[in-house]
Parts: sequence; structure tokens; C-alpha cells
Amino acid sequence: MTSISNKTEKFLEEGSWIRKMFEQGIALKKEFGENNIYDLSLGNPILSPPKEFFLNLSKIANEKNPSNHRYMPNAGLDETKAAIASNLNKSTTTNINKENIVITCGTGGALNVALKTLIDPNDQVIIFSPYFVEYKYYIDNHSGKTIIIGHDENYLPNFQQLDSAINKKTKVILINSPNNPTGVLYKKETLTKIGNLIRQKQKQFNSEIFILSDEPYRKIVFDNLETPNIFEFHDQSIIATSHSKDLGIPGERIGFIATNPLYSQSNKLINGMTFWNRALGFVNAPALMQRVIAMIQDSAVDIKSYEQKRDFLYSSLKKIGYSVIKPEGAFYMFPKSPIPDDVKYSEMLQKNKVLVVPGVGFGAPGHFRIAYCTTDEIIEKSIEAFKKTFDNIKR
Ligand SMILES: Cc1ncc(COP(=O)(O)O)c(C=O)c1O
Repeated sequence: MTSISNKTEKFLEEGSWIRKMFEQGIALKKEFGENNIYDLSLGNPILSPPKEFFLNLSKIANEKNPSNHRYMPNAGLDETKAAIASNLNKSTTTNINKENIVITCGTGGALNVALKTLIDPNDQVIIFSPYFVEYKYYIDNHSGKTIIIGHDENYLPNFQQLDSAINKKTKVILINSPNNPTGVLYKKETLTKIGNLIRQKQKQFNSEIFILSDEPYRKIVFDNLETPNIFEFHDQSIIATSHSKDLGIPGERIGFIATNPLYSQSNKLINGMTFWNRALGFVNAPALMQRVIAMIQDSAVDIKSYEQKRDFLYSSLKKIGYSVIKPEGAFYMFPKSPIPDDVKYSEMLQKNKVLVVPGVGFGAPGHFRIAYCTTDEIIEKSIEAFKKTFDNIKR
């Protein structure tokens, strides 16, 4: 007999090893001091939000206008939706307008609202390994069925598997680019292939299959690359994103959903999502933040600084001998574990004071994830530990 549901019990148990690792990390920090443990396990960015963020935040707070802080339409403020649409239009010719936008409590809120609106119980949602840990829970929240597809050697979707997995119950294909945990960017060729395959399957099954594009790292891309806009590749497509990473404000819980204006039932989608934004209990995204982000859609954290961190970490790990794909965006790296057991290797790294997350947590055992959204000092100091752990393996 227990007070919590069997499902909660099961999910907590599934995640217990990751909690154990985090707890061990906290204990290590207590023992040796924060700065002597090289914590590369958390995607909590340390870069400062841009100065325009602080300027507008204090300006709006100082207005001391009570109506700034009241309830509002559940989809958000018109001026904010218009500013978001105009910024998104720089990456597409589809002509997004404010009626295509719902402002949400981060990407997490956006994904839950979108999935709730789209899926009936047992509808299938396809995700690709390695995947963001929360996807399975978000899909389960709305009684969907998660189908996991593997990857090729570049961590792009395995198209053969995808082809045979899509059936008449498939409602959503959830993609994430730039990707957490690999840093891989889905380029035009990959998105064209996904779009073509979906349209072929829609015809075959006389169904509608949506691409739900999870893209909180859209602006964090390197080497002068750009994140293609998914609306160019499939009409039934939805963007779910936030300013957690590009403005460095994950604690403020502000993001949005955009629907493709080329989709004939876009209005219906927006009505559904607006309803669920309310009925899932979010009601509306934080009012103060909506006013701030309306003013700074063209701003971002110092993306060059992430690129420099990537360059340093990537070349250092390669020099040691790690096998790793060079990330093109986000702030993660996903090296192969030099031993098959990634949990064991992560524990070995932990003994040398580096904290990472084993790949099994992302559905890709045999790897580990490094989050390099931390200080240069911590990254630099971690290199010796990566080398020591690597060199200690008996080969
Ligand atoms: C791939 C991915 N999706 C969604 C989220 C959730 O982000 P948010 O803070 O916008 O809810 C994260 C956060 O790390 C993420 O990495």
C-alpha cells in the first residue's frame, strides 16, 4: 500500500539511478568544495542574459502599473505574439502572424500543451534516440504511446526504422534540433527526407501526421550555420520552444508554440492549444516576462562564447582519444564511453571529480553527455580528469 500511484512509483524508480548520481555529486561538492568538482551534468546555463533583458525588466517593473500583472488572454499578449511572429519570419517565407502563436511556460509547457491538443489515448508519438529524458513522461501525461527510433553514425534518424514504424496510429513525430544530448543539427536534407516520408505515409494511411519540433537551442548554432525553419518542410508542423537557453532565463519559464500558417486547420490547433494552456493549469505564461521578451526578440546570450567552449572541449577530448561527433549547436557533447558500461564509466569520472550523465538516460547506452554551459575554468580543469580516467582503462 502506498500513497502515490503505481505509475509514479514506477517512474521514480526508473529515474532513481540518475537521482543517486546527482546526490553523490552534491555530497562530493560538500566534501571538496563547489569549485573542485567539475559539474558537467546540468543544462543550467551560466552565461548572463543580454543587457537588454535587464534594462527592459527594470523598465517594465518600474512602471508600477497594476494592469501589467493581471490575467490576460490564455494565448498571451498580442504585442508579444506579434514580436515573436515577426522574428520567426526571418527564417521562413510562410508568413507567420500573431494568430499562429501561443505563449507558454517554457518548452516543457509548450510540448505538453501541443501533445495534449494533438493526441488521443494510444496514438503513437515517434521520438529519436538519443532523446531528451522528459519526452516519455510528457507523452505518457496525455496517454500517448512512445515509439523510439534509432540513429545512424551521425546521430541522425535511422530512416529504415522510421519508415517501418509509421502506421495509422502515428500522430506525431517529435524532433529536436539542435539536439540535446548530441549537439547535432538537422539540416535541410534530413528535414526534407522526414517531410517526404511523412507525406507518403499520410497518403497511405489517409491520416494526418504532425512534426512537433522541439527547438529551445534554435539560436545556439555554430560555424555560421542556421537552424532551418520546419515550416518549410511540412504543413502539419508545430514549433515548441522557449527563451530558456537563447536568453539564458530558464527559471523564468517563458516560451511559445508556433503553428504553420500553411496548415489549413491552424486556427483549430491554436484554439485547442489555447484551451489546454488554460486547462492544464498554466492559465497564461508569466505576464512580466511576456512584456520583456516582446522588446528583445532579436537579442541572445553570447553564442560565440559557447562556440569557443565547444572548440576547446572537442579538440581536448579528441586529443585524449575519445570518440565524439563535433556538435553544431546547443551546448552538449555526447562522446562514446571507452567501456561499454556508460554508467560505470560515469562513476569512474565521478571518482576523478567530473560529473556527467550516462547515455542510457537518453536511450543511447555506451555514451555519456557533457553539458558545457559552464565556466571556462571548470571545463579546463575537467580535461585532466577526462584524461586520467581514459588512461586508466585497461585495454
Ligand atoms: C531538448 C529540450 N527540450 C525541452 C527542454 C525544456 O526546456 P524549457 O526550459 O524551455 O522548458 C530542454 C531543457 O533542457 C531541452 O533540452
